[in-house]
Amino acid sequence: MKVLILPDEQAAMQRAADIVARTVTATPDAVLGLATGGTMLPLYEALAQRHREDGLSFTKTTSFNLDEYIGLAPDHPCSYHSYMQEAFFRHVDIDPARAHLPKGDAPDPQAASLEYEALIAAAGGIDLQLLGIGQNGHIGFNEPTASLGSRTRVKTLTTSTRRANQRYFASFEDTPRYAITMGVATILASRACVLLATGDAKADAVMRMVEGPLSAACPASALQLHASATVILDKAAAGALTFTDYYENVHPGGRDSAFD
Ligand code: F6R
Repeated sequence: MKVLILPDEQAAMQRAADIVARTVTATPDAVLGLATGGTMLPLYEALAQRHREDGLSFTKTTSFNLDEYIGLAPDHPCSYHSYMQEAFFRHVDIDPARAHLPKGDAPDPQAASLEYEALIAAAGGIDLQLLGIGQNGHIGFNEPTASLGSRTRVKTLTTSTRRANQRYFASFEDTPRYAITMGVATILASRACVLLATGDAKADAVMRMVEGPLSAACPASALQLHASATVILDKAAAGALTFTDYYENVHPGGRDSAFD
């Protein structure tokens, strides 16, 4: 794992935006894996700004989001379809026909999950997967004890995840219990992945992901098996790491010889 520690949230987010921009510029028809959540919002804003001001184009890009709540129609204001539309898609030139999310309102969510995997395979697999991390160590909605060999499927959300996401819904009871999510093995099959984490609330999960034992108890720790995983942190999210001197020695100031 490459661990890049940036001075603050803004710098971490710009570093992640650099990687997306370089990927899409070098390979305009790249297949991106996209994430939602609060951490990603400033990243999408930065990419939209680069589209407006620097001509960064997504016209040939294909995207697959990690997850979607079960039971929410795409036009539900709290669906991840709506999130992506508002936060990113409507601000850039991506072809809506190539911007995919799992179908949370499908009559048979398990069949829709298998179709989603097939769609990713038909697109040639994911070139760059963006990830956030839950305070409980989840990636996508692969909650603790998720199979490390899992593919896209239906997952039951933990109470802690529902509580963390309750802020977007009227009440805890209204917060969905189930989601379709790419599996851990789906994520590991991406050719490269970038996980962005900011703020001290993520410090413990980040430590368990990077330096803890490989364990389904922290699904993000499976990224230790990924051949090209970059973890981008601000100082707060890096606060519980032990080998910080080493990371800063290898990547001073969060620089990466592959990009700088
Ligand atoms: C969302 C997703 C989740 C989030 C994670 C962090 O598509 O896959 O794993 O990345 O829950 O969410 P925030 O950024 O809101 O803390």
